[in-house]
Amino acid sequence: MTPTSVAQAVYVLAALLFVLSLAGLSRQETARRGNVAGAVGMVLALGATIVLALDTSRRPALVTALLIASVLLVGAVVGTWRARRVEMTQMPELIAILHSFVGLAAVLVGYNSYLAVPVAEAGDAAHLVEVYLGVLVGSVTFTGSVVAYLKLSGRARSAPLRLPGRNLLNLSALVASVALLVWFVGAPSVWPLLLMTVVALALGWHLVASIGGGDMPVVVSMLNSYSGWAAAAAGFMLSNDLLIVTGALVGSSGAILSYIMCRAMNRSFVSVILGGFGTEEGTVSASTGEQGEHRETHADDVARLLADARSVVITPGYGMAVAKAQYPVAELVELLRSRGVDVRFGVHPVAGRLPGHMNVLLAEARVPYDVVFEMDEVNDRFPDTDVVLVIGANDTVNPAALDDPGSPIAGMPVLHVWEARDVVVFKRSMATGYAGVQNPLFFRENTSMLFGDAKERVEGIVAHLRVG
Ligand code: TAP
Repeated sequence: MTPTSVAQAVYVLAALLFVLSLAGLSRQETARRGNVAGAVGMVLALGATIVLALDTSRRPALVTALLIASVLLVGAVVGTWRARRVEMTQMPELIAILHSFVGLAAVLVGYNSYLAVPVAEAGDAAHLVEVYLGVLVGSVTFTGSVVAYLKLSGRARSAPLRLPGRNLLNLSALVASVALLVWFVGAPSVWPLLLMTVVALALGWHLVASIGGGDMPVVVSMLNSYSGWAAAAAGFMLSNDLLIVTGALVGSSGAILSYIMCRAMNRSFVSVILGGFGTEEGTVSASTGEQGEHRETHADDVARLLADARSVVITPGYGMAVAKAQYPVAELVELLRSRGVDVRFGVHPVAGRLPGHMNVLLAEARVPYDVVFEMDEVNDRFPDTDVVLVIGANDTVNPAALDDPGSPIAGMPVLHVWEARDVVVFKRSMATGYAGVQNPLFFRENTSMLFGDAKERVEGIVAHLRVG
């Protein structure tokens, strides 16, 4: 048994743990176990990779060890620093920027792999295609993820960029990439590779910049998928089986998630990927102005409303995450349930800023799983509901998605909260949500606005209910 054969065996074990991890993460009850399996798999994978590098390196072992130690140190220090500081609400942007690193790594591995291969072997078409595809997918992932990061962190406008002839631009980039591939394989040189890199970087930037606010959730999971394929391509170039398996796992699970999210948002997968392909230009009526009178309420009034209610549905959104209101919300739920009120949560598939965002927060606050329902499970119940508490949600409860065909979120399924007897909306102002569209719900007769930080307001209601 050589160190290399042991490392290969450990790779198989790590790959198995990654599969188990994905299986565990698919359900809330097993998610913690899934996370542990993933972490153990990653430690084993890192260890085996170090052993492999030391065993196969042509440099003196000490030099290789020092190189590995220094990159591990930099990665660990930066990673720990960022992970400790990041807020739950900043997770999507952190994920987006991490995807950009995977893309950049694939590009660098591609160039290194091309330049390091002896000229005689450079004619090997399979290797050249490997390099080309790795650099192509890596470049698109890199700039796409940087734009997603800028949009998600609010450093760039989330509205879609509408360049004239944008579909033609994308198509030209694709045709140019195929032509450059033919050149690269036919007469290998660094020029077609460099030209394609520029085209692919521009394509990645344009694809994501063209995607509007409401479709960003799909973009995040799509870039996740791209980063997986970029890693798989790097695995082929480095002849690293584990990287190929892991990349394929990430690539395919990201693609499946993108598909599920597209279905949840009633969007066509192709149209989202191609940056709104087929959507008519100029139909956007992103109305941000006020649409009538809104009614204001206060914590004590809401407490009275809840005290008399028999059924309550809570629809949480991004604002609950910002305010960290999940803890008092859990307390409120416990209090109401102890008084015999039927309380349920209605969770929209894209509420918050990352898939499963609300479920994570509610689980963190120990809300029982059996009162948390998905949008489709609660939408029929609203007409029989006394009070709906919309806590920091906006786009996901916007009736314009159904009523206004010109709205940027038109066609997106939403929670039909307005069908309940009374609706209370918790937010700080009349500002719009992520998609930048005003919400006619706020001006409906059965809606009242409870302004202020969601956490403070829910705490106020709990206090009133306890004394009342
Ligand atoms: P949003 O439409 O983003 O609205 C959140 C609301 O929370 C805002 O209107 C804001 O109003 C309020 N808010 C913020 N801080 C608050 C605080 N401290 N206290 C009380 N309210 C607060 O939320 P949503 O309904 O969850 O919709 C999610 C949106 O994000 C969708 O458009 C979705 O497409 C997009 N998106 C989702 C994802 C995923 S994967 N879930 C990823 C990227 C984008 P004020 O400022 O007036 O307080």
